[in-house]
Order: sequence, then C-alpha cells, then structure tokens
Amino acid sequence: MGVIKLQVLFVYLTLVSSKLTNSEIMSIEGKAPKPVVLWHGMGDCCCNPLSLGRIKDVIEDNVAGIYVKSLKIGSSIAKDIENGFFLNANTQVEEVCKQLNDDEQLENGYNAIGFSQGGQFLRAIAQRCPSPPMLNLITIGSQHQGVYGLPYCLYPKRWCDYARELLTYGAYLSWVQDYLVQAEYWHDPMKEDEYKAKSIFLADINNERGKNKTYIKNMLKLKNFVMVKFNNDTMVEPKETEWFGYYKPGQATEVMSLQESDLYNKDRLGLKQMDKLGKLKFLAVDGNHLHFTEDWFIENIINPYLKNYDH
Ligand SMILES: *[C@@H]1O[C@H](CO)[C@@H](O)[C@H](O)[C@H]1NC(C)=O
Ligand SMILES: *[C@@H]1O[C@H](CO)[C@@H](O)[C@H](O)[C@H]1NC(C)=O
Repeated sequence: MGVIKLQVLFVYLTLVSSKLTNSEIMSIEGKAPKPVVLWHGMGDCCCNPLSLGRIKDVIEDNVAGIYVKSLKIGSSIAKDIENGFFLNANTQVEEVCKQLNDDEQLENGYNAIGFSQGGQFLRAIAQRCPSPPMLNLITIGSQHQGVYGLPYCLYPKRWCDYARELLTYGAYLSWVQDYLVQAEYWHDPMKEDEYKAKSIFLADINNERGKNKTYIKNMLKLKNFVMVKFNNDTMVEPKETEWFGYYKPGQATEVMSLQESDLYNKDRLGLKQMDKLGKLKFLAVDGNHLHFTEDWFIENIINPYLKNYDH
C-alpha cells in the first residue's frame, strides 16, 4: 500500500514539474511512444554530439520514454564515416535491415528519420525491409532522384576529393558503382538511359528498370512519407531532388516537379496513389543544406510525427 502511494505521488510530481502533454501522461500510464530510427548523412556518423547526438537529445527531451536508435554502419565510429563513402548502399541497406530485425524494441513498428543520403537509404529500407514495420518515413534534405554534382562534400576532404574524381572519371563504370556510394545515386540527366541501366542502387529503388510491385506495396504501407527541402540549398544539385523532383531529361538547367514526372504519372512507385491518400508531405525550410532550428524540428517533425503511441 505504501509503495503504491509513493508511486502515485511520484507520477503526480513528474506531471506537474515537467508540464507533460496528454499523450505523455498516457505513456506514463503504460503506453509507450513508438521508437525512432535515425540514419545520418555523408561524412557524418551515428553519434556526433553536434549533429545526430544532438537530434537524439532533442527527441528524448520532447517525447518522454522514447527509444531513439541512431544507426551505426560498421563496428566503430571511424568505420561508420568511411562506410558512408565506400560501403555499397545495397549492402548497407541489407545490414541495417538485419540490425532492425535484431532489435526487439522495434518489433511493433518505428518511425524513421534520414538525413541527406540517409533519407534515400531509409526509403530503400521501407521498400525492401517491411519488417519490422516502418510507420512514418521522414527525409531531411535527401536525394530521392539522385544528384548531378558533388559540391556539398566537405568532410573528410581527401575522400570528398577522391569521390569527385571518380564521379567525373566514370560514375556508371561497374567497378565505380560497386565501390563508391555517391556513384550509386549519381543521376546524369544527359545520360538517362545509362543511369537507368547501370545505377545499381537508385535506379533500382526508383523502379526505373521494371516495376517491382513489392516496392509499391511496401511504400503504400507507410502512414506518411515526409520530405523536407531546403529552399536555399547550395549543396545539393538540384535541390528539387529533396522533393523527388529532378532535371528534365537531356539537360541540366530546367527542373520538373515529382508531379510532372513519368515516375509519378505512370505511378511506377506508388507515389501518385500515396499522394491521393494524403500520405505525401512536402515541407520547405528557408536555409542551406540541413540548416534548421530546434524549434522548427520540434514543431514540424517531433510534434506531428513522433508522438504516436503503442496501446
Ligand atoms: C523486388 O523487391 C523485393 C524486395 O527487395 C525483392 O525480394 C525482389 O527480388 C524484387 N523483384 C524483382 C523482380 O526485382
Ligand atoms: C530562400 O529561399 C526562399 C524561397 O525560394 C526565398 O524566398 C528566400 O528569400 C531565400 N532566402 C535567402 C536568404 O536567400
């Protein structure tokens, strides 16, 4: 009896002192928030206190009791950074699928947030690895239609320089495709046919070679597919790729939106159906690549998408 009273008092004090919302009160009553999985961008790693470590803290501070898993690809932080350049994206996706399956805390579903290239990798997870179930997919400054140019790569410098050299030398050579992650989402609008035939990652997940119905079915399982674009992104070319737009084929100045593309109009990936169902969310932020404030993140990402609970 005494113990129960103490517990009640403890809960009461917690509620008053931290001004929890109704859903957080529910979590204290035994309903846990859905976990969230983060995938970092190129040149970054799982746990840098200034980037993904900070994001993890902000999420934990705002959703009581949430489990945040920031993906580490490889056995160490150094490997994690290196793998962002040199571990075949298809292999990364397979390894992460295994990591997600091995984590019992994710078995009832999770939300996913990908930063920059981590966003298209998490989309591949949604398409190829439907279990455990992904609920909301949120991509922040990601390159869903690839890139044509690599001016945004600053760190680590020697790998960025090397990546640029290889992309110029021959992004669609099979050994470059197998070797360099950025070649695997390199999309040369002057060589659409070659891109479709030889891109081992992006052309596959975008159903550019045949229509994999499993991909469509799995995309449609998502509750929401949220894409965040940076209006003043000088690092991703073209920035419209962050909303699944791209250059019109044959040139590299004029851009078309997702809704103007064949991919959408022939519904090769289920995106048109998702759009009709209200599952596609297009958010824009003024600022350069991945520049957003904590307030923006709380209001636009955490509050609407990460506060769903197990019952
Ligand atoms: C479609 O994707 C699924 C999931 O990755 C895969 O198992 C299957 O082999 C693919 N089918 C074709 C025809 O590529
Ligand atoms: C950023 O882009 C938006 C939308 O295109 C524009 O209205 C705004 O002026 C730009 N801001 C800067 C600082 O360039």
